[in-house]
Amino acid sequence: MRVLGIETSCDETGVAVYDGRRGLLLGHAVHSQVALHADYGGVVPELASRDHVRKTLPLIEHVLAAAGLDGRELGGVAYTAGPGLVGALLVGAVVARALAWGWGVPTLAVHHMEGHLLAPLMEADPPAFPFVALLVSGGHTQLIEVAGLGRYRLLGDTRDDAVGEAFDKTAKLLGLGYPGGPALARLADDGDPKRFTFPRPMTDRPGLDFSFSGLKTHALVTLRDLAPDDRAAHADVARAFQDAVVETLAIKCRRALRATGLRTLVVAGGVSANRALRARLEQMATAEGGVAHFPRPEFCTDNGAMIAHAGALRLAAGEAPTADLAVRPRWPLDELHPPVRA
Ligand code: KG4
Ligand code: ZN
Repeated sequence: MRVLGIETSCDETGVAVYDGRRGLLLGHAVHSQVALHADYGGVVPELASRDHVRKTLPLIEHVLAAAGLDGRELGGVAYTAGPGLVGALLVGAVVARALAWGWGVPTLAVHHMEGHLLAPLMEADPPAFPFVALLVSGGHTQLIEVAGLGRYRLLGDTRDDAVGEAFDKTAKLLGLGYPGGPALARLADDGDPKRFTFPRPMTDRPGLDFSFSGLKTHALVTLRDLAPDDRAAHADVARAFQDAVVETLAIKCRRALRATGLRTLVVAGGVSANRALRARLEQMATAEGGVAHFPRPEFCTDNGAMIAHAGALRLAAGEAPTADLAVRPRWPLDELHPPVRA
């Protein structure tokens, strides 16, 4: 079944067609709004919605034409229904519903984080259920026990900032602009790992919850004693911050593998593009006698392929199409169910 996926939950317009029967991506495109929001230091919701209005249809036309497909040949249209910005989500929902009605094909509301979580299944040698998933994005930091499609048990969550948010806020302190995560990671490559040591929050007590806001404060206090134009010192701070995040996540992932008795770790969401994190988690999983899976870097951050893929899996499992136009800006992942047949 070939499914069109539409992602508009935040500041990327993502469109893709995934062929579920062949396990093949037939085409995809992402339009990033980074330049649009850069002057404001963060995403401006109204500007995000308006840009999705401008970009979604042309992007769909482009992806379908490049794949040589007519909309009537599709098995369905999947769109991100949440979590995310309400206005941005509504654009994707309305476009998906209108096109699907016109083409006479079913529509399916997809959970953005389920899209992220299942993205590694699009890679060669995909992970098999059950596994432990670490979801690290701009809005989420969660450890989840995944028994199967739609069978998610929350093991741990952040008490304050999400990891991506902590990267972005610390990057701002370092004068790196928005979104600062990738820029901070590049600066950290030049840093001295021995100059500063940041704490590993909440690793000295049992449990799988996280807290990352203290690391940002730690960076702020450290930076106060440094000259604003001292790039080498800034790189050392970036390195200490990233090392602390990576090590904290590795400790908690190891704990989750041991607590569940599982050996497969799946890592997804924007921060899973971070090279230091990928290397450390791969090393940890191997040391535990297991294996770690990641999406290819372009499918770590927001994209349409993960939505087309999750939609294709659910429709192929017989899930009933979504009848209403509702979006859910807040939508806990563990409220999802396995596919419910029509
Ligand atoms: O999944 P995503 O694209 O959007 C959300 O659903 O939130 O994640 C975006 C987040 C941002 O906070 C961004 O700074 C972070 O992922 N990010 C990174 C890297 N690439 C993206 N953080 C650290 N290192 C990276 N290489
Ligand atoms: Zn995301």
